Amino acid sequence: MVTIKSKKEIEHMREACKIVALTYEELEKRIKPGMTTWEIDKIAEDTMKKYGGIPAQKGYSCGIKGIPDYPCATCVSVNDEVIHAIPSKKKIIKEGDIVSIDTVVLKDGFNGDAARTFTVGKVSKEAQRLVDVTKQAFYEGIAFAKPGYRIGDVSHAIGEYVRMQGYSVVEEFQGHGIGKEMHEDPGIPNYGKKGKGIRLEPGMTLAIEPMVIQGKHNILELEDGWTIITEDGSLAAHYENTILITENEPEILTLL
Ligand code: MF3
Ligand code: CO
Repeated sequence: MVTIKSKKEIEHMREACKIVALTYEELEKRIKPGMTTWEIDKIAEDTMKKYGGIPAQKGYSCGIKGIPDYPCATCVSVNDEVIHAIPSKKKIIKEGDIVSIDTVVLKDGFNGDAARTFTVGKVSKEAQRLVDVTKQAFYEGIAFAKPGYRIGDVSHAIGEYVRMQGYSVVEEFQGHGIGKEMHEDPGIPNYGKKGKGIRLEPGMTLAIEPMVIQGKHNILELEDGWTIITEDGSLAAHYENTILITENEPEILTLL
């Protein structure tokens, strides 16, 4: 069921999403070569707590028996890791890496969700282009995130843009509605057909999140039950914001 948020609920969404944005502002300033992905997670967790947010990913269950609950506030996925890599004291980031961070903040019963791919020091031209295309794919998608269009229009715009740039979108994971639950209806694939899916209406809050691979679209899951990597070893990037559908242009809630 797709929920339409009331005025008051939208205010709560704004608060949660603002804390996500502040967390990324802090990370942007502090990510440096030589840090562990564990340290990155600590900075994120401390920042969101400082602003009164709860790390919603910590303790999150994917619902599959035998897979442990997610242990951290963030996912920190480096280079060929696509999404959901668990922060580790042993994993050190270095100059030239691309680091995709994904986090969800819960505040007053509402969730805000965003992801960014950061570049560490100087990165290759190709890595930078992948990061830029992934971010632009989000904007290509939200050009259709308004009344008069359907989810399929957003999905199609993302998928076609990425394909035209010579990259692949991940097909097994998708964007989603968001609110009291981290994942609500509708699912929002990063590829699709124009004119298909539900109509967009004011008051919907959606997490739009292109996951883009430099090479082939195929992915693998590691034994930890969480980490997703590219099968061909090529780089991957992720860019996500929580948006609000309005009468006109969408509002991006997880930007300052
Ligand atoms: N933030 C992710 C999303 O965009 C969910 C992460 S799964 C978790 O949907 F286990 F890390 F929480
Ligand atoms: Co999301």
